[in-house]
Amino acid sequence: METLNGLPTGRPPIWLMRQAGRYLPEYREVRKDAGTFLDLCYTPDLAAEVTLQPIRRYGFDAAIIFSDILVIPDALGQPVSFREGVGPVLEEIKAVTELTSLDENRLSEHLYPVYTALRTVRTELPGDTTLIGFAGAPWTVATYMVEGGTSRDFAKTKCWAFSAPGEFGQLIDILVSSITNHLISQVEAGADVLQIFDSWAGMLPETAFDQWCVDPITRIVSGVKEKQPEIPIIVFPRLAGHRYLKVAEIEGVAAVSLDQTVSLEWVQKNLQNKVVVQGNLDPIYLLAGGDAMRAEAERILKSLSPGPFIFNLGHGVLPPTPLDNVSELCEIVTGWQG
Ligand code: CP3
Repeated sequence: METLNGLPTGRPPIWLMRQAGRYLPEYREVRKDAGTFLDLCYTPDLAAEVTLQPIRRYGFDAAIIFSDILVIPDALGQPVSFREGVGPVLEEIKAVTELTSLDENRLSEHLYPVYTALRTVRTELPGDTTLIGFAGAPWTVATYMVEGGTSRDFAKTKCWAFSAPGEFGQLIDILVSSITNHLISQVEAGADVLQIFDSWAGMLPETAFDQWCVDPITRIVSGVKEKQPEIPIIVFPRLAGHRYLKVAEIEGVAAVSLDQTVSLEWVQKNLQNKVVVQGNLDPIYLLAGGDAMRAEAERILKSLSPGPFIFNLGHGVLPPTPLDNVSELCEIVTGWQG
């Protein structure tokens, strides 16, 4: 929170995307008896428990509520399931007429367990640990709704967006309003910070990037800030390259989360004078560990920690990541005296 509010902190704070998850034995233990992945997300005591696990083990500076970006389509009435080895599965939206079956009135009741989990985490979290709420950005969530799951080329979603922008825009509008409300409710339940995940932002060509990444996020940030003017918002437009600048320039964005492909010199010159930056260790360095991880973490700390910076990965922790590599990374960052 101090870093996001422009205060000096001595060393940069650290948390990791997907810090709660399958690499932790205590997560696998809870997961095994919880039913489906969404059952885990919607059972407040269990969701709160797995949110706190990485804080207990590693003492990260922030906890991120255990949930998923796909609770939004699920809450709107497009059921989501997760299949082992496949990922998320949804019955895809094939025509604009199907949008009428998405019902925003279901949202707050369906997502109530997420807010209950946030309240529980808030009471159990050490006072100096920041609590992060999150949602997917409209473009990324829309890709799962239109493709019916993960995709390689996003052909269905992009075809629809390119050939019938008015129709596709109706889906984006539903998502802008649902995601805005979901984020506001998370702040009301105790989130100190929000992060918006646009994991597939980098798949959009120039004009479409403005239309389907920058514009919907701008509307969400302004809608959230209208109700919660003080809340810091971090945006993760993954693989956006030099277009990170456009996201950093959105009014009200406090920080951008960097994937592992961006040049740190470019970030220092072009982003850190505008926003806080977060990132960007390749999760494979965390998997590999040893000298390679140490050297890369130090390169990132040297380049970015003179400015406002939150240490994180360029994408989520991978399930086979050794536990000791995570402790070592925490030691490197918390011992940093740049
Ligand atoms: O610790 C945290 O970061 C908080 C929890 C969190 C999850 N998903 C839990 C999860 C967060 C912030 C997410 C975000 C998310 N979910 C994104 C954006 C970030 C990114 O990774 O690009 C996306 C695209 C999703 C959609 C999603 N959820 C996919 C594609 C998958 C399947 C892939 C996989 O890793 O299995 C999920 C499932 C999921 N979400 C798991 C976890 C811990 C694994 C499910 C399990 O434990 O069985």
